[in-house]
Amino acid sequence: GKPVRLALLGCGTVGAEVVRLLHEQAGDLTARIGAPLELVGIAVRRPGRQRGDLPVDRALFTTDALGLIKRDDVDVVIEVVGGIEPARTWIVEALRAGKSVITANKALLAEDGGTLHDAAADGGADLYYEASVAGAIPLLRPLRESLHGDRITRVTGIVNGTTNYILSSMDTTGAGFTEALEEATELGYAEADPTADVEGFDAAAKAAILASLAFHSRVTAADVFREGMTGVTAGDVASAKEMGCTIKLLCLAERGPDSRGAESVSVRVHPAMIPRSHPLASVGDAFNAVFVEAEAAGQLMFYGRGAGGTPTASAVLGDVVAAARNRLAGTRAPSESVYAHLPIRPIGEA
Ligand code: HSE
Repeated sequence: GKPVRLALLGCGTVGAEVVRLLHEQAGDLTARIGAPLELVGIAVRRPGRQRGDLPVDRALFTTDALGLIKRDDVDVVIEVVGGIEPARTWIVEALRAGKSVITANKALLAEDGGTLHDAAADGGADLYYEASVAGAIPLLRPLRESLHGDRITRVTGIVNGTTNYILSSMDTTGAGFTEALEEATELGYAEADPTADVEGFDAAAKAAILASLAFHSRVTAADVFREGMTGVTAGDVASAKEMGCTIKLLCLAERGPDSRGAESVSVRVHPAMIPRSHPLASVGDAFNAVFVEAEAAGQLMFYGRGAGGTPTASAVLGDVVAAARNRLAGTRAPSESVYAHLPIRPIGEA
């Protein structure tokens, strides 16, 4: 069949892996989709930069992201640049032009997802973002599709790999925060500036996206109560251990009646003690896991690698296949399902 044409915005850790997987799995992807995928351009800041042995024609690199997005022959735009601007302008432009957009941009979705969903509705276009939360773990599609016949009551997650590595290491070795952070940095788990991780900003963005999907509401990062984990001491970890517990940086999103009986949502990120018998207690290293409770389904747990170029690229590629199939069949992805408009319950209220 006629190829489905892709434009890639960004070629960092995730983008490079997307390029590599598109190349290595071209045969399988074509068979699954029923048409070949063709990468027609890659927007980057520095086209001349050395990119190892990336299997791609250097002529595809361009600095003109908007020009690439507006090309008539581009069907699907993949945004893996991150940050608010210019990513928002690019995504809005692509959606309004009717292109399918795939993004891994949790910060943007959490801060201003409404603008992206509105642009998708305007352009009659689809927005896919499986890679934005918990990397490789199939999580948003289950929340958006598989559980759509059910009523989700609570989502409890370990959605930041860096802090989970640090807290797991404090639990195992008895080390303090600073020592465990140094180890995580040396091993390449923590970034040079780990603020967004250890202060809970990264987890709060993911919590907002999960809460929006789980509760059919729009929850932004600013709605999320947030406390980081830099204050957790070796003594805290030891006391938790004596009580048969471990300390994890959790994101918790719940729906239920507030103190006046009004249905509302509470979303928070903070360190919490959990009993060692809880499934989330055994999530070690830099793994992520999300525990979902739904009225009919009961308890579900999603577990896997939440970060890293290759696991995140796996989620992006899954969205590429879905977008390509939908375009070829003339069908649509599930749109944003917002009808609940639940108020956010202030922290401290029952
Ligand atoms: N810094 C994040 C983490 C990367 O440690 O989980 C994935 O968003």
